[in-house]
Amino acid sequence: MKKWNIASIPGDGIGKEVVPAAEQVLHTIADIHGGFQFEFTSFPWSSEYYLEHGVMMPEDGIQTLASFDSIFLGAVGNEQLVPDHVSLWGLLIKIRREFEQVINMRPAKVLPGIASPLANPNQFDFVVVRENSEGEYSSSGGRIGNGEEEIAIQNAVFTRKGTERAMRFAFEQAKKRSGHVTSATKSNGIIHSMPFWDEVFNDVSQDYPEMTTESQHIDALAAFLVTKPETLDVVVASNLFGDILTDIGAGIMGSIGVAPAANLNVNGKYPSMFEPVHGSAPDIIGKGIANPIGQIWTAKMMLDHLGEEESATKVLEAIEQVTRQQMVTPDLGGNCTTEEVTNAIIQELKR
Ligand SMILES: NC(=O)c1ccc[n+]([C@@H]2O[C@H](COP(=O)([O-])OP(=O)(O)OC[C@H]3O[C@@H](n4cnc5c(N)ncnc54)[C@H](O)[C@@H]3O)[C@@H](O)[C@H]2O)c1
Repeated sequence: MKKWNIASIPGDGIGKEVVPAAEQVLHTIADIHGGFQFEFTSFPWSSEYYLEHGVMMPEDGIQTLASFDSIFLGAVGNEQLVPDHVSLWGLLIKIRREFEQVINMRPAKVLPGIASPLANPNQFDFVVVRENSEGEYSSSGGRIGNGEEEIAIQNAVFTRKGTERAMRFAFEQAKKRSGHVTSATKSNGIIHSMPFWDEVFNDVSQDYPEMTTESQHIDALAAFLVTKPETLDVVVASNLFGDILTDIGAGIMGSIGVAPAANLNVNGKYPSMFEPVHGSAPDIIGKGIANPIGQIWTAKMMLDHLGEEESATKVLEAIEQVTRQQMVTPDLGGNCTTEEVTNAIIQELKR
């Protein structure tokens, strides 16, 4: 029997409600499969942990996590207790950087029974591959001067290695889908990094002659996500552009509560981390109405990454069966609790 050792970090707020729900689903699918099982080791690293210990995770936290097959995270952040930049950089970003999780993958598709805010969602189904380690989110730059003379300079850093890696990953994803890759650019306005981005995209696309490609300026592409999302398959984007596009993706699905995400280490040296797009949702903590679908779909992505693709597909099918019956939480207009939606998904799996 294969055993997957998972480090579980529920984190803050509704993370503590949706992570146990998704773990129940993972145990269920493992039982159904019969050939593997999950062992979760839970870590209390969170804003409350920070108040007690003065750090978001212990000094050897990264070393501890390194021995696990994957990391399963809920949400981090509670502004009432700890400033967001402290909690984010002390845990989430630290793990992403230390474990070279250079790709952030976020799918978006129409779930049956869920009303998209779009008048014509046309069964859109795409995935954004976001470069997750460099680009606009760099610490290069600084502030000089005072008062009216003050200047802030923020440098974006694009390496050929990082850019090419994200693009190759996107093309490999496209092989498993309908074979179309869209590059998010802005080479008409950003004169150094974006023409470079386009050049690398052209170079890499030569190695995938069987794929169709297009480049779109980020502003036009943002509009296409609203007006014709069904034309997209795999979108490759820089760190900032990908961040923005994926929130539009979550928005057009109907609720951020259903949007999944994976932070992937692609060289196999370190574990990858799976966390939904949403945060700790302070406005609904403890009400029992957090939508568990984002976390459960994220668990599906973890199954894919671990090579348990057949089980992963079954989990997504069970989610779709449950949304089709409109057994959903209030963020999607329903009146089910977290527990009811989770149990319904488990029952679908057991059918
Ligand atoms: N990856 C992460 O850990 C992550 C991501 C985003 C925000 N945050 C942090 O979370 C805290 C709150 O941030 P925010 O309010 O901007 O974003 P949020 O995603 O927590 O909440 C935004 C809105 O969406 C709703 N929502 C989110 N997830 C939901 C779910 N599963 N079911 C039902 N409704 C859901 C919330 O109730 C809220 O109205 C902040 O501290 C922020 O830094 C963490």
